Amino acid sequence: MVTLDPAAIADFFARVPGRLGAPWLGQTLGFYRDYLGLVRRQHAAFGPVFKHRVIGLDSVALLGPAANRFLLADGAASLSSRLGWDWSLGRLFPRGLMLRDGDDHRHHRRILQVAFSRDALAGYLEPMQPRVAGLAREWPAGRVAAHPRLKTFLLDLAARVFCGLTLREEIAALNAHFAAVVRASTALLRRSVPGFAYARGLDSRGELARFFAELVAARRGAPGEDLLGRLCAAVSEEGDTLADDEVVDHMVFFLMAAHDTTTSTLSSLLRELALAPAWQERLRQESRAFATGGAISLERLRELTLLGQAIKETLRLHPPLVLIPRRTTAEVEFDGWRIPAGVNVGISTAFTHRMPELWTDPETFDPDRFSDARAEDRRLPFTWIPFGGGAHLCLGMFFAEIQVKLVAHHLLSSLRWRAIRGWTAPIRQVPIQFPTDDLPLDFERL
Ligand code: HEM
Repeated sequence: MVTLDPAAIADFFARVPGRLGAPWLGQTLGFYRDYLGLVRRQHAAFGPVFKHRVIGLDSVALLGPAANRFLLADGAASLSSRLGWDWSLGRLFPRGLMLRDGDDHRHHRRILQVAFSRDALAGYLEPMQPRVAGLAREWPAGRVAAHPRLKTFLLDLAARVFCGLTLREEIAALNAHFAAVVRASTALLRRSVPGFAYARGLDSRGELARFFAELVAARRGAPGEDLLGRLCAAVSEEGDTLADDEVVDHMVFFLMAAHDTTTSTLSSLLRELALAPAWQERLRQESRAFATGGAISLERLRELTLLGQAIKETLRLHPPLVLIPRRTTAEVEFDGWRIPAGVNVGISTAFTHRMPELWTDPETFDPDRFSDARAEDRRLPFTWIPFGGGAHLCLGMFFAEIQVKLVAHHLLSSLRWRAIRGWTAPIRQVPIQFPTDDLPLDFERL
């Protein structure tokens, strides 16, 4: 139980630099319109620690690699991920892994981790390959809205890999429900008023929970080896099994995490390669040379080194999650600031990833910065953090890398794509980076 001292919190907010702005609204509009621009302006005015107010929530931004290290690792024992994410995800993804702390989090993470062992990852790669090859084979020539196409495909793939599902007519409905829940996470009106985004998100959450509850009931007798089966069969050291609703909560969070973030990454990669055709050509040459080398194993995928660098560079410029929130559960000290218990704090992946002090020419798409010779991400710890770090480090990090690499490799081998003349490549950074125009690109089959 955290003891709060409202006077200490008020005193802290009074002393910390920054501007909260109008009651409730604060900087909400700038946050929606251009999150990174907003953070940069506030950084320029107030320095690396400042308060701000977005959608009724007052919080303190901590910027830069030292702040990242503090929030994700050194100070983590006094920072709650559950309470940090509660405001945006609490009712939409209750009891998902990110919404757990301490021993409870460790216990559940240990159970989920089995789905990401080396053997499990190698097992996913095999059934993924023909499906990814099929995606590239069936990708039409001409103008295609790439983002929705990728999203449907990756949700379908995640459902097959993690729960053995072959989605047919359900895919459109599931996709719409996940989109509604994610949209609701940053909805302006945070009450369940019928017809508004938050209420629609809660309804969709209910539909997803019902869908997975039926699956769990069917699996209890014969769990199987996929993630859903492992969760149904999981037994803790104390001999406890997970209750049905706990399995459901994990699956809903998991499938969202498993397809939305990789859709975002692949869309951003296609976008950057449309804007940098010379890089697209370099990667295609690597992929075509690679394609002649036989079956694709985990080890062989590593040979696509340039593509690996291009994916890292994409995640630097466009991290799917632009910020990572926490709430203090005890007084903590950072950079001379004593932050009392009960304060919402957050770091910014998007800001760190473009700091001119850390990166050469940070606005330029330049995958070579991740080559062994330059290794700009290794100059200082916690400079490249698209997957977070510490106890909550993304569980699906290696899975995401395999999936994004495999899809990009197949697309590069079979297709060339170009930007439409006059295209402004618009993106929205929250809640998960995505192209607001569905990413229309002109594709040519090779
Ligand atoms: C490029 C793709 C991805 C990115 C950028 C990404 C990013 C992140 C980040 C930043 C966190 C940490 C949040 C925090 O500390 O509060 C996280 C956690 C998590 N991610 Fe990912 N993710 C990606 C893909 C995936 C995939 C494919 C899966 C599942 C297959 C997944 C499952 C999870 C889970 C379960 C957690 C919670 C870990 C915990 O709390 O212990 N992610 N992810």
